[in-house]
Amino acid sequence: MSEELQKKPVFMPNRSFAKEARIKNMCEYRDLILEAEEDYEGFWAKLADEKIDWIKPFEKTLDSSQAPHYKWFVGGKLNVSYQCIDRHLDLRKNKAAIIFEGELGDKKVITYRELYYEVNKTANLLKNRFDIKKGDRVVIYLPMIPEAAFMMLACARIGAIHSIVFGGFSAEALRDRIIDAEAKLVITSDGAYRRGKPYLLKPVVDEALKEGCECVKKVLIVQRNNEDISYVPGRDYIYNELVELENPTCEPEPMDSEDPLFLLYTSGSTGKPKGVQHNQAGYILWAQQTMEWVFDVKENDTYWCTADVGWITGHTYIVYGPLAMGATTIMFEGVPIYPDAGRWWRMIEEYKVNQFYTAPTAIRLLHKEGRDEPAKYDLSSLKVLGTVGEPINPDAWMWYYDVIGSGKCHIVDTWWQTETGGHVVSPLPGATPIKPGCATLPLPGMIAEVVDENGNKKPVGEKGLLCITKPWPSMIRDIWGDSERFKTSYFSTAKKDGKPIYFSGDGAMYDEDGYITITGRVDDVINVSGHRMGTAEIEAAIAKHQSVAEVAVVGRPNDLKGESVFAYVVLKPEVADNMAEEIELYKEINKVITKEIGPIAKADDVKFVPGLPKTRSGKIMRRILRSIAKGEEITQDVSTLEDPSIVSKIQSCVI
Ligand code: PRX
Repeated sequence: MSEELQKKPVFMPNRSFAKEARIKNMCEYRDLILEAEEDYEGFWAKLADEKIDWIKPFEKTLDSSQAPHYKWFVGGKLNVSYQCIDRHLDLRKNKAAIIFEGELGDKKVITYRELYYEVNKTANLLKNRFDIKKGDRVVIYLPMIPEAAFMMLACARIGAIHSIVFGGFSAEALRDRIIDAEAKLVITSDGAYRRGKPYLLKPVVDEALKEGCECVKKVLIVQRNNEDISYVPGRDYIYNELVELENPTCEPEPMDSEDPLFLLYTSGSTGKPKGVQHNQAGYILWAQQTMEWVFDVKENDTYWCTADVGWITGHTYIVYGPLAMGATTIMFEGVPIYPDAGRWWRMIEEYKVNQFYTAPTAIRLLHKEGRDEPAKYDLSSLKVLGTVGEPINPDAWMWYYDVIGSGKCHIVDTWWQTETGGHVVSPLPGATPIKPGCATLPLPGMIAEVVDENGNKKPVGEKGLLCITKPWPSMIRDIWGDSERFKTSYFSTAKKDGKPIYFSGDGAMYDEDGYITITGRVDDVINVSGHRMGTAEIEAAIAKHQSVAEVAVVGRPNDLKGESVFAYVVLKPEVADNMAEEIELYKEINKVITKEIGPIAKADDVKFVPGLPKTRSGKIMRRILRSIAKGEEITQDVSTLEDPSIVSKIQSCVI
């Protein structure tokens, strides 16, 4: 029996929780599945009618005429910032919308009414001072501070398209994204705090804008830590001063259901990062609906997702989803182990957090670093625990379940991607019996299946492709500026009934209960601490080092990070003959990676090898490199290699 299929224990939903849950048992779940099966469009139309405050109702639920560019809720008009703020003002004006805690312990509560004013003033500022119009792109390079949410919602209010770049990316990575999106405005902060110390962001923007960014007219700077930074007159403006001069009301722009809402760059198996485009109605509908079903947040609950707004989890499950449903969402600037490994548990106690959503890497880290920390705090407010971003190993899962959830909280292991906009495969906390390390079943309306290339369902225990075989409202609409790549990346691997279907890039497997276990990426994408990276991108960065002739990067399983970056480097002959200390080169190569991408992509291992295993046609056989990195015996056929002896030569360099 494969490791993934070994019989796992099953845990039932907490009875008293289930009684009050939106989906209370598997019968209710199956009814919804059936409803979607019988009338797919009707199922979605009903949800869209119920959940969205339409400015103008939609005329057609789904238009497939330009597949795979599907259109949802065609003809409808709405405004996402209205959906997230204005419509709550009658009932929830004094309710906390965002609770912010800074790294140093500074706290701020922003009510829905305050959020309304902040977003309206910001929207006016962008429109009036910076001439941002509907369809303009705004790059946001901010830390985890409430202003990040204000900026996103202000863009949504006036119809501008935001593109958030994670604050850990380097100037080069930021520049690529600015240029690709042709952004008119960049929003950043002087800096922020990490591990108790200030760090700077603005200089990274200055560096990025040095070359090729003529599209950027202005830079707007949030003062977060008042560090001494330089300002370019006529280009750089301070947000905190200007925003106070603006009018606190700004009419929300009526947006078409299919107008773009945001871009978010993510890694693929080839080439540069892709600007994943999400549009208005379908995205916000699913963000809200999954908040309700998967976290089952109630009116007086406090919900906390620890992600960064620079990733899709932060978009959908810190800002858009919680605010669309009128929930209270916590935003935390810092890291899990500063000042100590009890920080998060202390915050759960302090804010009486009811739903807590984090990544397996963090769970593993806290398990290791702070085994006894949780016992010091009262975590009894918790009802639902979530995990996302990478497969969770059963050990970490059990610790999360037993120690953090005291055996009474359901764990929702949510599988989804930047491209899916929201959850796809996940337990429902009041209904689905759960198993450690298993994402369980597709959510109602999401037709996720494990299939072969012809769309045939894989039998129990056999690995297959995780595909979504019908279009869904929150799906990626396009890759910004590259529709061809959109089609080849997602709709060229598998077909069903002769029609291309969406392939996620992940492998998966059914168990005897029809549950789906994710087995990991099947393409050249690796997942380091929940950060998705293309090996091609890291290779391109390393290749910029003057001494490097050739490079191949693979992922290596890592107990803490899930995977780590493992690079095989062939040096130029003149260097190889006269090789400086390996350790120096290792450091230099990591410096190049940090400069080109950011510290998140640094290699744990850099091995200097005499050549790479290539076929006669010049293709690198990465499977062999993955096996060597794992220390596995090579069972693959190496006879097709141009030089089969290279395998043992590489092995001897790695040991
Ligand atoms: O490989 C899957 C993994 O993360 C990838 C998506 O990465 P990204 O677009 O950055 O979005 C991360 C947050 C949604 C997937 O292709 N992944 C995500 N969730 C899980 C997962 N792998 C296993 N189990 C999950 N729950």
